[in-house]
Amino acid sequence: MSQKQRYTITAALPYTNGPIHIGHLAGVYIPADIFSRYQKAKGNDAIFICGSDEHGVPITIRAKKEGVSPQQIVDKYHTIIKKSFEDFGIEFDNYSRTSLPVHHQTASDFFKKLYDEGKFIEQTTKQLYDEQEHQFLADRFVTGTCPKCGYEHAYGDQCEKCGSSLSPMELINPISTISGSKPVVKETKHWYLPLDQYESWLREWILEGHKHDWKPNVLGQVKSWLDDGLRPRAVTRDLDWGVPVPVKGAEGKVLYVWFDAPIGYISSTKEWSKKTGKDWRPYWQDKNTKLIHFIGKDNIVFHTIIFPAMLKAHGEYILPDNVPANEFLNLEGDKISTSRNWAVWLHEYLEEFPGKQDVLRYVLTANAPETKDNDFTWKDFQTRNNSELVGNLGNFINRVMVLTKKYYQGIIPQPGELTGTDKEVLAQIKTYPRKIGNLIERYRFREALSEYMNLARLGNKYLADEEPWKQVKTAPERVKNIMFVANQIAAALTVLGAVFLPFTARKLKDMLQLPGDLTWDSVAEKEILLPAGHKLGEPQLLFEKIDDETVAKQVQKLLDTKKQNEAGNREIAPQKDEITYEDFMKMDIRTATILHAEKLPKAKKLLVLKVDTGIDKRTIVAGIAEHYKPEDITGKKVLVLVNLKPRKLRGVESQGMILMTENANGKPVFVNPEEDIPNGMNIS
Ligand code: 2FM
Ligand code: ZN
Repeated sequence: MSQKQRYTITAALPYTNGPIHIGHLAGVYIPADIFSRYQKAKGNDAIFICGSDEHGVPITIRAKKEGVSPQQIVDKYHTIIKKSFEDFGIEFDNYSRTSLPVHHQTASDFFKKLYDEGKFIEQTTKQLYDEQEHQFLADRFVTGTCPKCGYEHAYGDQCEKCGSSLSPMELINPISTISGSKPVVKETKHWYLPLDQYESWLREWILEGHKHDWKPNVLGQVKSWLDDGLRPRAVTRDLDWGVPVPVKGAEGKVLYVWFDAPIGYISSTKEWSKKTGKDWRPYWQDKNTKLIHFIGKDNIVFHTIIFPAMLKAHGEYILPDNVPANEFLNLEGDKISTSRNWAVWLHEYLEEFPGKQDVLRYVLTANAPETKDNDFTWKDFQTRNNSELVGNLGNFINRVMVLTKKYYQGIIPQPGELTGTDKEVLAQIKTYPRKIGNLIERYRFREALSEYMNLARLGNKYLADEEPWKQVKTAPERVKNIMFVANQIAAALTVLGAVFLPFTARKLKDMLQLPGDLTWDSVAEKEILLPAGHKLGEPQLLFEKIDDETVAKQVQKLLDTKKQNEAGNREIAPQKDEITYEDFMKMDIRTATILHAEKLPKAKKLLVLKVDTGIDKRTIVAGIAEHYKPEDITGKKVLVLVNLKPRKLRGVESQGMILMTENANGKPVFVNPEEDIPNGMNIS
């Protein structure tokens, strides 16, 4: 057997400012998990490393919005995310957190070494500063008018209306989103990694050295960055959440999240080392170790240019052997979006499809966005489940189990002399580990899975051609051979399936009572995986059909989301300051009827209403003339705040306020009781 290869396999550390969805699984974690399971199955010395990325501005923004501390935010999502990974069988050797001391120490030491060796440039620049809050403002904490298109709510780094990327200093009338005040310009010092100095080395190392083994989408991005020319990049920020910059004169500054996060792979490995007692160093320092980063396409520049430049500058670590990045997965034709809730969240999937983790794993692998963006649809999910998992894999296993039980009480029969077909099928089985393995090693997981399913197809075809259910009457000896061979296929499907469908493989292992020593390579090498006389276990349900109704429900859920998004394409105002019950009781709200309405001359928006409040008949002025004609609302039941201090609007005294809300199109609509209630009834 060839020598064990050491692998350090990493998967992008997810941001802990929200749960994870199918896009994350398909893009990063499933391929990484398959790769890691495969390397381990091959007997290689592989560790699979990940953790939560708990720093960065979005987390602080979310914390401010929710009125809690950043630590509370990351604690909450770290727990949710970690559980989702466990639920879906993403089997990390270690799942760490960048808020842990081991990470702070590692990242801090990393920075310090580069600093001491003069690898950074120090530069003072002008930045916006919130005097009220005594802090510099990260790009996302500034809004203002876009200088390109005039949109009034552009962010400091980007205008979402015209898509221009901006710098906060370019914004017209900038406002701090933290205090609402106008920021001032102030000087601040930062440390920069001079990426330009690494440009020619990067070009040679990647564009020459890895031009044949890195994926075209990754090479394409690298080339375009390098062709654009690299510039020094700030690796520190003025922020109070993150790893403090460990040098004098850097108070109130932290490491840029993209500087500290990838170092998280190293600190997570150190944490693993502490837990297991194994040395972490060979996994990061031995030149023979292969370091593989699984990431999404928005992370490419950080893992191919910035982190390698950091590693190179540091000098004690190995460089990635490959950075297999996927493209994006869309959902029913639209980009997955957290803010629009356009996603299939893993925890929600599990509530609706309990026990069906492998179905999702299967669909997301079969349809992975490996070379281009791809689309997840519920229809495709259903079809793949019903025709491929139930119809092909499940069907084959079911036939093998049922027939072996029926004819031989679940004991694998002693075959007679094997026919040419039998031998041919047995020989075919042995080719699958290599076929599938080669594809996995080249990061072609879709094709690898499809090869795996071909093995099940081979099994089904063999049974369909040989028809043991017919031959059992006429040629019972022949059937022994058929069922013996079919059981070997089932055993191979179990061993090879464990990398793609771990939950199913575990069940299969139980069902077949498969010996524990069967490895990936043994499928290629052994003549027989399950000997005659071996007793199978009890059948279990592997897959079941998903009906139209179930799928329609999921589609409807998305349609509802879409509708809500269209309707609610507006900001939900934050909750107002707390009031007491007594405050509430001061408001006298009554049921009432509009008796009469007329336009107020020269006031475009105002209608003058005569309203019966049950207490009296009074005049109320309402700003609804652009939306309602007087005749439309005469006779309408409404709710009125009757004890609001009267005020004059365009010379007419308004003696109360009609309660209204707004519909999706911004039209004011009346709020009224569900039943016909007499005028003057209290609302409480
Ligand atoms: O895109 C993301 O979710 C980042 N948190 C990935 C970080 S990867 C690594 F560098 F830690
Ligand atoms: Zn703009």
